[in-house]
Amino acid sequence: MDMKWMVILLLGILAETTMGWMYHYSNTSMNWTQARQWCQSTYTDMVVIQSQKENDYLVSLLPNRKQSPYFWIGITKKQKNETWTWIGNNSTWIGEQSWAANEPNNNNSKEFCVEIYVKIGENRGKWNDEKCANLKSPVCYEAQCTATSCDRGRCQETIDNITCLCEPGFTGNKCQTAVTCPPLSQPSDGNLTCSGEKLTFNSTCRFKCSPGFLMTGSQDVTCRVTGVWSGPRPSCASYKQALLAVVGCAAFSAFCCICFCWMKRRKRKKVAQVRQPEEATSPSTEAQG
Ligand SMILES: *[C@@H]1O[C@H](CO)[C@@H](O)[C@H](O)[C@H]1NC(C)=O
Ligand SMILES: *[C@@H]1O[C@H](CO)[C@@H](O)[C@H](O)[C@H]1NC(C)=O
Ligand SMILES: *[C@@H]1O[C@H](CO)[C@@H](O)[C@H](O)[C@H]1NC(C)=O
Ligand SMILES: *[C@@H]1O[C@H](CO)[C@@H](O)[C@H](O)[C@H]1NC(C)=O
Ligand SMILES: *[C@@H]1O[C@H](CO)[C@@H](O)[C@H](O)[C@H]1NC(C)=O
Ligand SMILES: *[C@@H]1O[C@H](CO)[C@@H](O)[C@H](O)[C@H]1NC(C)=O
Ligand SMILES: *[C@@H]1O[C@H](CO)[C@@H](O)[C@H](O)[C@H]1NC(C)=O
Ligand SMILES: *[C@@H]1O[C@H](CO)[C@@H](O)[C@H](O)[C@H]1NC(C)=O
Ligand SMILES: *[C@@H]1O[C@H](CO)[C@@H](O)[C@H](O)[C@H]1NC(C)=O
Repeated sequence: MDMKWMVILLLGILAETTMGWMYHYSNTSMNWTQARQWCQSTYTDMVVIQSQKENDYLVSLLPNRKQSPYFWIGITKKQKNETWTWIGNNSTWIGEQSWAANEPNNNNSKEFCVEIYVKIGENRGKWNDEKCANLKSPVCYEAQCTATSCDRGRCQETIDNITCLCEPGFTGNKCQTAVTCPPLSQPSDGNLTCSGEKLTFNSTCRFKCSPGFLMTGSQDVTCRVTGVWSGPRPSCASYKQALLAVVGCAAFSAFCCICFCWMKRRKRKKVAQVRQPEEATSPSTEAQG
């Protein structure tokens, strides 16, 4: 009993701590390259900001500073004519309110790195382009997604949330559950064998009809990733029924054939009758000549 509660408590703590990435900063100043290296060696990488919400959250964690140096963030460019690009995934997100007034100004014509202001006032949380050689403090993020976060899916992280985006055929918060198809009942005049214990996707069920019975429909059905069977279940019909069906069909075909022939013949007869007078004249003229 005690053990059980301990496990529950432990799981609760783990759930609390695995909620999206965490931000860390240093009070030491360094150039942009060194700052990124520090982030990579201590945490995951220099911070990447993808929305105003993330920007606001990040700023709420940073200390106030009365003056420069402020903090380096993970957006940069190599040339004056290039676009500002975030490290990691080449995103080019920049919000409407990201830059401070009159920034980026490229004041020293080589301002290819970006700092975030943390001075109290309207510029707090705004960005400014700066020379990459200047010394500022690093802000880093630490990813919470790990190789084991999602069993069968991709881990997606935001500031307060990690989510597993599952591969087709899997569900659950860690994509740990394989999709299953509804059970199939044994056919009345045959039997059914399925691969695997559970009817997860990709498992195949094969129907067999008892001796004396014929199958109509496909013999195998496969469970699809959507949790539905690939086709309707076949049915077993006795030979007698099957024979009756075949005979019935054959009889019907024969009947149709006979009908058709008869109608055709009647039509031909009619045509012949109509034509007869004309035909009759020609031989007579010939005979006269
Ligand atoms: C950085 O400096 C501020 C102000 O002195 C202090 O409150 C904070 O704890 C320091 N943070 C780190 C990570 O050293
Ligand atoms: C940017 O400028 C460099 C030279 O400074 C040039 O080689 C490059 O082609 C330019 N790129 C674009 C996209 O204009
Ligand atoms: C980002 O862009 C660079 C240069 O265009 C490229 O080498 C790199 O593979 C890209 N990275 C990603 C994650 O797309
Ligand atoms: C780039 O990565 C960040 C996190 O590192 C993520 O929030 C964002 O959606 C990514 N952007 C693109 C365009 O892939
Ligand atoms: C431009 O940079 C110089 C120093 O290189 C500085 O004195 C000046 O205030 C800067 N101007 C602006 C608008 O940031
Ligand atoms: C950053 O500092 C390192 C070590 O002092 C130096 O090798 C590098 O050239 C500097 N980078 C820039 C862009 O100033
Ligand atoms: C986490 O994000 C996913 C998708 O982005 C969303 O469906 C889910 O509700 C979020 N969970 C929390 C606790 O915010
Ligand atoms: C399901 O079957 C397909 C096709 O045979 C195969 O490519 C896939 O890897 C299988 N998936 C699993 C989880 O067995
Ligand atoms: C299913 O039916 C086939 C043919 O009637 C038979 O050979 C097989 O043993 C049966 N299997 C089971 C599990 O009943």
